[in-house]
Parts: sequence; structure tokens; C-alpha cells
Amino acid sequence: MRMDLNGKVALVTGAGAGIGKSIAEEFAKIGAQIVVAEIDAAKCDALRAAMPDALIAEVDVRKVAEVEALCDRIAERFGRLDVLVNNVGHHLGISGPLAESREEDWEAIYEINLRHMFVVCRAMIPLMKRSGEGGSIINFSSIEGFRGFPYNVLYTTFKHAVTGLTRGLATELAPDNIRVNLIGPETTDSEQVPLDKVIPAGKRAIADRSIPLGRFGRPQDHAGAAIFLATELSAWVTGSCILVDGGGFNGNVFQRTPEGEWTNMPIVVGKASI
Ligand SMILES: NC(=O)c1ccc[n+]([C@@H]2O[C@H](COP(=O)([O-])OP(=O)(O)OC[C@H]3O[C@@H](n4cnc5c(N)ncnc54)[C@H](O)[C@@H]3O)[C@@H](O)[C@H]2O)c1
Repeated sequence: MRMDLNGKVALVTGAGAGIGKSIAEEFAKIGAQIVVAEIDAAKCDALRAAMPDALIAEVDVRKVAEVEALCDRIAERFGRLDVLVNNVGHHLGISGPLAESREEDWEAIYEINLRHMFVVCRAMIPLMKRSGEGGSIINFSSIEGFRGFPYNVLYTTFKHAVTGLTRGLATELAPDNIRVNLIGPETTDSEQVPLDKVIPAGKRAIADRSIPLGRFGRPQDHAGAAIFLATELSAWVTGSCILVDGGGFNGNVFQRTPEGEWTNMPIVVGKASI
């Protein structure tokens, strides 16, 4: 059993930054031919300079025609597709009570967190079947796809739905030995969640203690899980959800005090006024 993608072709959506970029870089290190679908032209240029052998396509994964054209390019250049990472997803900065939400926000959150996975999977699955050797689809959800996030019900709903897509498709594609699994990240330093801006200055050490393993995520943490799911290391794993979360989901009622003790009581900072 090897951590090896030699001879395999891997498509990573949204690989111009953050988690997707790290996955593309780490897949390339273990031999994969890389294909990227990225909406941002400047990021595509940077990727072409860094990965000259890769197929870097400026594609909006929400657009059917663009995704289908990319599928044709992959078929023409490589004749196969072995790994698909549906990494695109975003909170879009939309938050607030559901009762005050706008219909255009429902559509936007659906488009960027779930609908594009239908678009990309529908286009790519026939090509993934073509080799007859099976393959791996990895869908990005979130820790918020497994708990209730107030004022972010729309995002929470569609991230939960990624579990449904993953489990249904895993059974449907099992006869073709195409495995379908999910990664659910806890807060990870990236372009859309820049920790230096999200956490007030001077509060990082306190925030880090809310995660049992003592820090927030780095994009490479997810690349490790993706390598497991993409390679034969996970040959008998399908329909599964890997939470890459520093123990946050399992132990988030408990947090560490400044003294390093565990508590499930609120940590009250400052002097109460009566
Ligand atoms: N970072 C976190 O804390 C966190 C937490 C939970 C879940 N996630 C999930 O992990 C995944 C990756 O998150 P990230 O923080 O690395 O993202 P990011 O915003 O840092 O990077 C996303 C990349 O996707 C590209 N992109 C955006 N829309 C696109 C489109 N329509 N078509 C093609 N490319 C597009 C962007 O240009 C960017 O390069 C997402 O699904 C996200 O919801 C992230």
C-alpha cells in the first residue's frame, strides 16, 4: 500500500488559494498530474508559473458550459480522470437571522456550496468511469455541516447537504469502484478565513485554546486527509466523513483555561460589575 498518485490525474476546484492550493501542491509531490478549475485569472497565472506541467483552467464551477468544456480538455490531454476534489465553497460573508434573510442570499449560498458539485460531478463522472480502474471524489463540507451555527443557517444547511450528496453518490458509484468521501474542516487560516483579521489582536492564544489540539487549522492539515482519501490507503473507505478539526467537534464543550486545565464552564474574563 502506497501513498502514491503516479499515473493518476487529479482535478482540484478552487486551487488558487487556501486548502485547494495546498491539496494540488501535495498531490503533485506524490506524482499526480494536476488539473485546476479556478475562477480568478491572476491566481491561474500564478499557478501556471508554479506548476508548468499542470492544466490550469480559468473556470467558474457554477457554469455548466465552462465545466463541460474543461472535461473535454481533460479527456483530450490525459484521456482519464482519477481524483476529483470539490473544494470550492464559501460563506460569502452572509450572516444574520433566517427570518431576515433575502432570497438572493439563499440562491448565492446554494450555488457556491452545493449546486456546483452537481455540475462538476455530472460532467466528470463519465470520464472517471472510462479507465475502469475506479477513482476518488472528495467533497468539502465544514464542521458547520455537522452542528447548528446560529445566524448562518443557510451556510449550515448546504454544508449539511454535502453529506447527503457524498453518501448517496458513494453507494451509487461503488459498483464502479469510485469512492466518495467528505472532509469537514474546522476554522482554518485561508484567504476566506484570515485568522489575523478574524481573531482580535492579542486574543489568538485564548482562541487557540478553544481547539483541543491547541491551534486552528492550516491548509496542509486538509491536504493530509485528502491524500489518504485519494490514494489506495483508503481503498475500502467510501461514504465517510473525516472531520479535520483539531478535535473541535468532539470536544468543543470543553476548553483549556490559561493554566492548561480542562473546563466545560464558561471562562469569564474580566471583573463582573454588580
Ligand atoms: N477556511 C476555513 O476555515 C473553512 C472552514 C470550513 C470549511 N471550509 C471549506 O473548505 C473549502 C476551501 O476553503 P478555503 O478557506 O481554502 O477557501 P479560499 O476562499 O481560501 O479559497 C477558495 C478558492 O476558490 C476559488 N473560487 C471561488 N469561487 C470559485 C468558483 N465559482 N469557481 C472556481 N473557483 C472558485 C477562489 O478564487 C479561491 O482561490 C471550502 O469549501 C470551504 O467552505 C473552509
